[in-house]
Amino acid sequence: SAAEKGGWDSFMDKEIHEDPAAVQRTLIGRMDDDGHINLDEVRIDEHELKSIDKIIVIGCGTASYAGMVAKYAIEHWVRIPVEIELAHEFRYRDPILTPRTLVVAISQSGETMDTLMALRHAREQGSKVLAICNTQGASIAREADAVLYTQAGPEVAVASTKAFVAQITAAYVLGLYLAQLKGAVYRDEIHSTLASLKDMPAKIQWVLDTQAAAIEQAARELADSKSFLFLGRHVGYPVAMEGALKLKEIAYTFTEGFAAGELKHGPIALVEPGEPVVFIVPPKRGRDVLHAKVISGIEEVKARGATIIAVAEENDPDVKRYADIVFWRPACPTLMSPLVDVVPLQLFAMDVAKQKGYDVDKPRNLAKSVTVE
Ligand code: G6P
Repeated sequence: SAAEKGGWDSFMDKEIHEDPAAVQRTLIGRMDDDGHINLDEVRIDEHELKSIDKIIVIGCGTASYAGMVAKYAIEHWVRIPVEIELAHEFRYRDPILTPRTLVVAISQSGETMDTLMALRHAREQGSKVLAICNTQGASIAREADAVLYTQAGPEVAVASTKAFVAQITAAYVLGLYLAQLKGAVYRDEIHSTLASLKDMPAKIQWVLDTQAAAIEQAARELADSKSFLFLGRHVGYPVAMEGALKLKEIAYTFTEGFAAGELKHGPIALVEPGEPVVFIVPPKRGRDVLHAKVISGIEEVKARGATIIAVAEENDPDVKRYADIVFWRPACPTLMSPLVDVVPLQLFAMDVAKQKGYDVDKPRNLAKSVTVE
């Protein structure tokens, strides 16, 4: 009903606007003011957690892209190998699982059969499973050894939005907690990373408040495009994958997400004049090398006549020079950027679908939760 949508014309619209709250609520009660993380809710023995020598993150769809983002951050902080795998691939390839492997199962609904079966397989092999789940008491939450709930609130629209940012937030808290347990990161760094994480809801809100009109305008201009390419590097790569997924799910447009470095190894062959190509541009400070590489990718496709849409940090001069359309984000550390960069892509997918007259909450052929294998 209209009341359930809280004044928005779709659940998707409402839920995208709950992105800031989803991040903020997922942080509540999990850390104190001086940067100490407290996860008593994770009922896995501390000694067991300390002895973990590998993490395998599993999930499907949007949850798997949250897991890809988490890999970059957790490996950086905890310094143990993190693999990310689609749950339906994981179980059937005889993965190497030991009691020192922590499997992290990410699922909004907690009922995705592929993820549930993978979880069972991991536990049968003697590994511990921690679920990152948005639904209290769901099967995946019940069967896991421990649960870290995302506090995004119920998600109704089939295409996942606020759950994605909440999943990244929860995975980051888990990563910082493991780093704290293992003494892998200085307390100061944990503290400052948590402070950056706490800043993200306001930054997401800034995007919602200031970029919506430009995004809607871009959707009007590009709604009839036959296909879109999405490119990103480092944590921008899973964001590109998620942006491509959102647009294909609800606007039925052919999209592909790629790692920007792969461009010259294949995808550039697809670029024709007028082809819309979306680039996730990393911050210029910090990992400067990455920024320069993405900009050179933009130059390459621009030279072939593509229409460049960039998600980039406010006032990025290189982006201003080359991009046809820009969705700006406030400055933030590279590892935090996925939380804000996905937001314009969620809005863009919704606006394109609306332009085409589709029901954004109930896309054809898709289910909110796939409870069959
Ligand atoms: C379905 C939904 C997707 C979702 C995926 C995983 O395919 O349409 O939006 O990302 O399932 O769902 P889960 O509930 O496990 O996060």
